[in-house]
Amino acid sequence: SEPLRLGIAGLGTVGIGIVKIVQRHADLIERRCGRRIVITAVSARDRTKNRDADLSDYAWETDPVVLARRADVDIFIEVMGGSEGAAQDATRAAIEAGKDVVTANKALLAHHGQALAEAAEAKGRVIRFEAAVAGGIPVIKALTEGLAGNAITRVMGVMNGTCNYILTRMDSASLPYETVFEEARQLGYLEADPNLDVGGIDAGHKLSLLAAIAFGTRVSFDAVDLEGIGRISIDDIRRAGDMGFKIKLLGVAQMTGRGLEQRMSPCLVPADSPLGQLQGGTNMVVLEGDSVGQIVLRGAGAGMGPTASAVMADVIEIARGCRLSTFGQPAHTLAVPVAAKATAP
Ligand code: NAP
Ligand code: HSE
Repeated sequence: SEPLRLGIAGLGTVGIGIVKIVQRHADLIERRCGRRIVITAVSARDRTKNRDADLSDYAWETDPVVLARRADVDIFIEVMGGSEGAAQDATRAAIEAGKDVVTANKALLAHHGQALAEAAEAKGRVIRFEAAVAGGIPVIKALTEGLAGNAITRVMGVMNGTCNYILTRMDSASLPYETVFEEARQLGYLEADPNLDVGGIDAGHKLSLLAAIAFGTRVSFDAVDLEGIGRISIDDIRRAGDMGFKIKLLGVAQMTGRGLEQRMSPCLVPADSPLGQLQGGTNMVVLEGDSVGQIVLRGAGAGMGPTASAVMADVIEIARGCRLSTFGQPAHTLAVPVAAKATAP
């Protein structure tokens, strides 16, 4: 059959990770999905930048909207970031041009997911975003596929690698916030606007996306009860340790009799619990279903390889013919949630 052609908008940490996987595993992926996956065109702002990958076989477009509309692109991959501007414009252009979309952009979907999903469905296209939540952990596939026969009762976890890295490293190495923050930047964990990470906003975006899938409700990021890690000091971490606790930026979403609770805030968790022992940029997501009970998923929540791995899982699913709706059910069937004030878990 014909190869499936990718256009990649964004050649930073994630975009280059995708290029590397396609180049390294072309044969393996073809065996798994029955179609060869090729990159035809790429886009970034600065063509002269050294990107540690051979891009010479691919057409270059400086404007991602032009890339999104190219006739030789079947799947538009949006890995630029940002909820407005280029990411939104190019994603809309891709849908209008009849392309499927794979994105790692949780900010885009937390703010515009409903409208984009409706637009895609009206065109018979799909938008998939496994990489947007918990990096390399296949949490969206777990919810939409593995647990599809369950009513989900609760979703919780640590979903921002930068914050977990900062909190655990401040604790274990007694290093100041600024040093550890710089280390996280070097590791490629940080968003272009780091306040998205340390302000808890990025993790809130992810929680709101999981809640939409879990409870069949429209994404309601504005209703997330949000607090970041900016006010946590080494003294707080030490005092928590003295009492047998760790401080984690923990998200909880659950449907209660009063409505949908969504909370993302620093919490004390027992030091010897799986959440308490979570180190570095690792994420942990706990899913609870009425039949399955509790599922715990743990793995790299950020970085080149893990995030590109999740993007490629979406690409391969599309190559295999899967046409799953963005949030696991048609966008127009998602309910408008009533927001409940969060209580302690
Ligand atoms: P990044 O390293 O900052 O790379 C962004 C890329 O997008 C750069 O190549 C940049 O071009 C390009 N770009 C930005 N604005 C553009 C525009 N207007 N037109 C054309 N190209 C543009 O970002 P990243 O870490 O790869 O993250 C990309 C997305 O994945 C974000 O939505 C992020 O939230 C998400 N994500 C990242 C991770 C991670 O671990 N990094 C994990 C999960 C999800 P230049 O290189 O020329 O500047
Ligand atoms: N900045 C994000 C994090 C990247 O640290 O978790 C992965 O979404």
